[in-house]
Amino acid sequence: MKASSHAAALRPEIEELQTSKIAEVFYAGANVRNLLPLWFGEGDTPTPDFVKRACLEALAADKTKYVDDRGILPLRESIARYLTTLHGKPIATERVQVCASGMSSVMLTMQAIAGPGDNVVYTAPVWPNIVEAVRIVKAEPRPARLVESEGGWTLDIARLESLCDARTRAIFVSSPGNPTGWTIDEAGMRALLEICRRRRIWLVVDEVYNRLTYDTPRAASPLDLATPDDPVFSINSFSKSWCMTGWRIGWIIGPAWTVDHLRKLSQYNTTGPATFIQWAGITAIEQGEPFIAEQRARLRRARDLVIQGLQRFPRVRVGTPAGAFYAFFKLECLADSTAFAKRLVLETGVGLSPGAAFGGEGEGFMRLCFASSEARLSEALERMAPLLK
Ligand SMILES: Cc1ncc(COP(=O)(O)O)c(C=O)c1O
Repeated sequence: MKASSHAAALRPEIEELQTSKIAEVFYAGANVRNLLPLWFGEGDTPTPDFVKRACLEALAADKTKYVDDRGILPLRESIARYLTTLHGKPIATERVQVCASGMSSVMLTMQAIAGPGDNVVYTAPVWPNIVEAVRIVKAEPRPARLVESEGGWTLDIARLESLCDARTRAIFVSSPGNPTGWTIDEAGMRALLEICRRRRIWLVVDEVYNRLTYDTPRAASPLDLATPDDPVFSINSFSKSWCMTGWRIGWIIGPAWTVDHLRKLSQYNTTGPATFIQWAGITAIEQGEPFIAEQRARLRRARDLVIQGLQRFPRVRVGTPAGAFYAFFKLECLADSTAFAKRLVLETGVGLSPGAAFGGEGEGFMRLCFASSEARLSEALERMAPLLK
């Protein structure tokens, strides 16, 4: 909605921010009975009980006051230990900035590195919030299109570099990616790091799905390769690996000197996640490995069921994603994915995201989140059959 002509104005770039097309489809399906919602980026598994208990215990112990704006020290230490083990390389506590979600980590990073006239080159299609975060800081988002062939996705790194110029402040990579599941390999990550070192720009890697991989124990990470002072920000979140989407807690790893500045940005934005949630985060990390292993096994079965099910429809083209929990499939002759998603939810009760929600690069595709029970997924495939055949 626009302000009336005599009203005080908002910044134009704020008025021009896109409303999510996923929300548009969600509203269209608001009154659908017996809905199978597979449109959002979260599963139907609740947060594990041991994390919920830790939160209640923290509340009972009055962990309810203001804390360090970098995040409480035991949580930062716990994240540093976790990453040190995961990457087999020391990650210092001083490099950790705790944030109120992965989204907040993205926003703080953008506020720290880009401004008017700058640009950020990112791999597309991508979760739309990344693009809007770049726009909010008045920088230009420049998509480096992933190439789809036979349902698989690849990144042309030389082409990506050709999009960089003197005003490029960062290369932003989401891997494993939402919506594609595209997962960069170590050689690709090394090449991007080299480009960023040479150009003296930032490599920002959104790693929120880094534990949700199916062919390797985890995704390649810049933290495997970079020195502590390299121009790298790694963004992560408790949302996906620990099923904590509503808790709003995540973190950034950057060079230690940047945390002095990120902490100020955190203070002036959200002032970080609630204190008792930070305490629960320690338990999630320290006791969460068996839960993550179970989740991966469950998601792998769900992925195989959905991909095999979709591949049976002649109009559908989809490969097997290496990571994250989405089937991003191409539907032959699909010109308006938003209209199709609305029709799908109204006629079948299955809620999917339109590919157009992930930028122009996603038009012609649909996204199905397979973090759901096998029964639900099988029913969704059955209900969608008449429209996908
Ligand atoms: C690629 C990507 N990054 C970041 C996030 C944000 O996660 P959070 O729930 O921690 O804000 C999401 C959520 O869907 C995502 O898909």
